[in-house]
This record gives sequence, C-alpha cells and structure tokens, in this order.
Amino acid sequence: MIGDKKVLFSGMQATGNLTLGNYLGALKNWVSLSDEYECFYSVVDMHSITIRQDPAILRKRARALLTLYIAAGLDPEKNCIYYQSHVSGHAELAWILNCFTYMGELNRMTQFKDKAAKHADNINAGLFTYPVLMAADILLYQADVVPVGIDQMQHLELTRDLAQRFNGIYGDVFTIPEAYIGKVGAKIMSLQDPSKKMSKSDENPNGSIYLMDDPDTIRRKCKRAVTDSLGEFRYSDEQPGLHNLIDIFCACTNRTPKDVVSEFSGSGYGQFKEAVGEAVVSVLDPLQKRVAELEKDKSYIDSVIKNNAEKANYYAQKTLRKVQKKVGFPEKIR
Ligand code: TYM
Repeated sequence: MIGDKKVLFSGMQATGNLTLGNYLGALKNWVSLSDEYECFYSVVDMHSITIRQDPAILRKRARALLTLYIAAGLDPEKNCIYYQSHVSGHAELAWILNCFTYMGELNRMTQFKDKAAKHADNINAGLFTYPVLMAADILLYQADVVPVGIDQMQHLELTRDLAQRFNGIYGDVFTIPEAYIGKVGAKIMSLQDPSKKMSKSDENPNGSIYLMDDPDTIRRKCKRAVTDSLGEFRYSDEQPGLHNLIDIFCACTNRTPKDVVSEFSGSGYGQFKEAVGEAVVSVLDPLQKRVAELEKDKSYIDSVIKNNAEKANYYAQKTLRKVQKKVGFPEKIR
C-alpha cells in the first residue's frame, strides 16, 4: 500500500513497433485502472537488451514509448512513468532473486524457449534470467496487481512463487502480486494466422496492426484479415479469425461479443471487417495525434523522466534496503 491505495506495476518493452495487441491487452487497461491504484509504469529498456539492439534506435524507441504512455491517457503527475534503467534497484533486486530461482523453473519458461529458437545465435544468460528481472520489477514496488496480456501469465506465476519462497524463509517481505487480465483483448491474434498472437516481431507486417499505422493501412489490414469459409457470424473457437476480429472490435468499442454478434448476424464478413477497420482507426488516430503533439514538448517529457525516476527510486530503495538486510548484507555506514 502507498497511502490508502494498493500498488499497481506494469511495463512494456521498447523493442520493435508496438502493436494493437500491446494496446488492447495492456495499455488500455492501465489507463482504466490508473485512478484506483498507485501506479508504476515502466519502459523496461533493461529487458530489451536480451536481444541485440541498435543503441540509437533503442533510445529513440524508449522515449517514444514513454511518450505513448502519456498520450494513451496516463497522467504522469499521478502515475510514475519512468525508464527501468534509471532505477538501479531493479538490477540489484534481480541479482538477489536470481539466487532464489532454480534453473529448472527458468528452463520451463515458454517465452525463453520461443526467443531462444528465434535468436539461436545469441542465447545469452540475460535471456534466460529475464523472468527474474521481471519478478524484481514487480516485487520492488510491492505491487498488488499487475495488468498484463495472457502471454505474461507464466512469468507472473514465477514472480508469485519467488515472492512466496522468499517470504517463507525471511518472513513477510514481499506483497504477493495478482495478475489483472482484461475481459476482452487479453490475447489479440495475428490477422494473417489467428493461431499465433499478434506480435511486434512477426515477419509478416500484415499480421499486425502497428500503433503508428496510418488509417488506410489499418483499413487495408483489417480487410485482408484471414477468416473462414463457413459464412456464419458467430463468436466461436471454431472460427478463430472471426473470433479475433470480434475481440478487436469489442475492445475498441467497449461492447460485448453477444451484442456484436446480434448486430452483425445478417451481414457478411466483408462488412464487418470494414467496421473493425473504422473502430481501430477511431482509437489509434487520436492516439497518434496526441503522441505527435507531446513529442514537440521536449522539456515537458524531460521533466517527467527526471521527476518520476526520483519517485521510483525512492520506493525501490525502501524495498531494497529491507531485502538486503534480510539476506544479511552489512548495513552501510552513513
Ligand atoms: P511486452 O513488451 O512483450 O508486451 C507488453 C504488454 O502487452 C501485452 N501483449 C498482448 N496482449 C494481448 N494480445 C497480444 N497479442 C499481446 N502482445 C503483447 C503483454 O502481455 C504485456 O502485458 N516481459 C514483458 C514486459 C515486462 C513486464 C514487467 C510486464 C517486464 N517487466 C513487469 C509486467 C510487469 C514483455 O515483454 O511485455
């Protein structure tokens, strides 16, 4: 708790072009939860270097992502929006937690297996221990709730296990966090292959809607989305392409699948795809305009970066001091 509020932590990587999946699965929920909780939203740039990055591009993308958080509606006066690399406590706690994590646990992580297969020439130790850094992110702020898409659930389970293990040895040190998964949009699939999640690293750009795609590109991608030949307008797992489009439509318009099915039951897929395209444009177009506006105000963004890093450091240090003492590190002489 901070004051009378529970704590929320979440983060996003500044790698690749963010997709509609990132927005609907995470960022949109962050905004809706931000009044209720004391929130920490990090641009997790330390996670990004588990895959080789061009330094100038990473820096640019990290800033663009931080700006996007604000553009999406997160008020940086109320929400702590900061770069992970500006708070050294993340790395310090990650080291300690590494010493409480079993190799077997990390070996089971499906995201590690996927990324190792994709980057076979660079299977580094950071990629392997990535989930421990993620656990440190969350536990450092004593987060109660962590809004994420379904793909991060396994990492969150590990975080809970580590926190419980640590508490079991040393007493109540960490708050045990809960995942928050949105009702719709928690797993947005590729428009070209609805058995795969929509991903920034997809080689086929038509599978993903990028947050910075222009309206015509968005409409075209929706129009070309893969559906099926059944020709029936249902919300069913047997029609994964249509199911995904209904999820996207619902998440963009705050409607329920039941409602949408009854409205479009007499229409063809083509007509619905057009409606999906318009719904996505109506969400992303204003977002892009706000990003462009904010990007002009360099000193404002700089002040957000500075002030919020200080705030994050303050809370991080509080937890870190407690943990260091528990594991037996000698106290600093001040
Ligand atoms: P990242 O950067 O891959 O994704 C950021 C958020 O977007 C969600 N997401 C999706 N949701 C629905 N459908 C999709 N197709 C989709 N693709 C991505 C993700 O679930 C995530 O919530 N390891 C994390 C970043 C991280 C983090 C943390 C998150 C680091 N530390 C602490 C929460 C708490 C990651 O790579 O997310």
